[in-house]
Amino acid sequence: MRWIKAAGRCLLVVGVVLTGCVSSNGHHGDDDEGRGPLTLATAGDLTGYLGSVLEGWNRTHPRERVTLVELPDSADETHAQMVTDLRGGDNSRFDVLNIDVNWTSEFAAAGWIRPLPRNRFPLTSFLPPVVDTATYEGRLYAVPYVTNAGLLLYRKDILDKEGLPPPKTWAELEHDAKTVAPKYGLDGYAGQFLPYEGLTVNAAEAVYSAGGTILGGEGDRVTVNSAAAREGIEFLARGVREGWIPKAALTYKEEESKQAFQDGRLLFLRNWPYAYAVASAAGSPVAGKIGAVRLPGPDGQGTSVLGGSDLAVNAHARHPDSAARLIAYLTSKPVQRLVLTRGALPPVRAALYEDPDLVQRFPYLPTLRASVLTAAPRPKSPRYGQVSLVVQAVVHDAMTGAETTEDAVRRLARELAAISRR
Ligand code: GLC
Repeated sequence: MRWIKAAGRCLLVVGVVLTGCVSSNGHHGDDDEGRGPLTLATAGDLTGYLGSVLEGWNRTHPRERVTLVELPDSADETHAQMVTDLRGGDNSRFDVLNIDVNWTSEFAAAGWIRPLPRNRFPLTSFLPPVVDTATYEGRLYAVPYVTNAGLLLYRKDILDKEGLPPPKTWAELEHDAKTVAPKYGLDGYAGQFLPYEGLTVNAAEAVYSAGGTILGGEGDRVTVNSAAAREGIEFLARGVREGWIPKAALTYKEEESKQAFQDGRLLFLRNWPYAYAVASAAGSPVAGKIGAVRLPGPDGQGTSVLGGSDLAVNAHARHPDSAARLIAYLTSKPVQRLVLTRGALPPVRAALYEDPDLVQRFPYLPTLRASVLTAAPRPKSPRYGQVSLVVQAVVHDAMTGAETTEDAVRRLARELAAISRR
């Protein structure tokens, strides 16, 4: 498994692919059946598996070859590049787009992606919550490809030495992060706390775990000004203030936080399951020393936000039939198995979570399945992008101490209300 992609490979690949796209633009050899070559745009492939999956398609579909366009790792940068491309209409270069689950409404409402026939895809074989992320106003606009739920990764070797179980509540987590981590020269806890989509996810999980919400209705009601939301944000702010969340974590996205844990610098980490798989792989300094459990909350089980991505077809795709066929291939059972075994990503096919061979190889699958089935969506809003930017900025200010949690939550409510009035 090629877990770690060499730094800079992404840029190189994107550079090569984009040059190729520009020069071949308009020369796709259109045919009557809507079949021909394609491009597939995706956020950074952190485990470097997708090329080999697409080779499988290219070998058997020489006239419908797909070229991978790998965009940056950060969800926000990928969003910006996709939006810029889609706004190009006929000149856009991306035929199939691997979009974050919370972009479907925005892309569909803007008319950038086309509705898809439900009967062409095995929707009933997917985990139920993932299908919702692909629909907008009752129509299917994308097909679920990968799902995701946050897990708490922990150093099992250290907790075992201390005779402690993995934390089930925030109080237990805080206690161990404060008292056990320093004994072993480790930092306590981290998540993805740089201001970007990842921080919106971490903040929403903290608020939901405390029983709060951010927006209600169709995104038109602001519900964040509550004691529960304050408790959630204060959990994160207190961590930095008291030092059991290291200041460095305020700059972490998925990869940086995974690296800190994998290098043996953290007792606890909130991350997506890929981080558990990568940190457990041969060669990782913490291989065999870690465990993963569901996220804790104030009084017990916390709530994860639902992550993942769906495959959508550009409204201006040159070969829509090939695009739909490629999506059917990528969501087929054999490829979904590779998504897990090679990509270390959670597949959307429900049956794989109960496959005894896979459960033995990926012992966190039952925990992950339960987390996905109970995961909560991010706040729904036709202006989701703006909502997320405000959440990130305000929560970051609370975490750096630039603002008290009380003031931050009040400001968040004000700024969210302004967005819904616009
Ligand atoms: C992961 C999730 C995605 C989320 C992103 C945030 O890629 O699958 O849904 O938006 O992380 O950083």
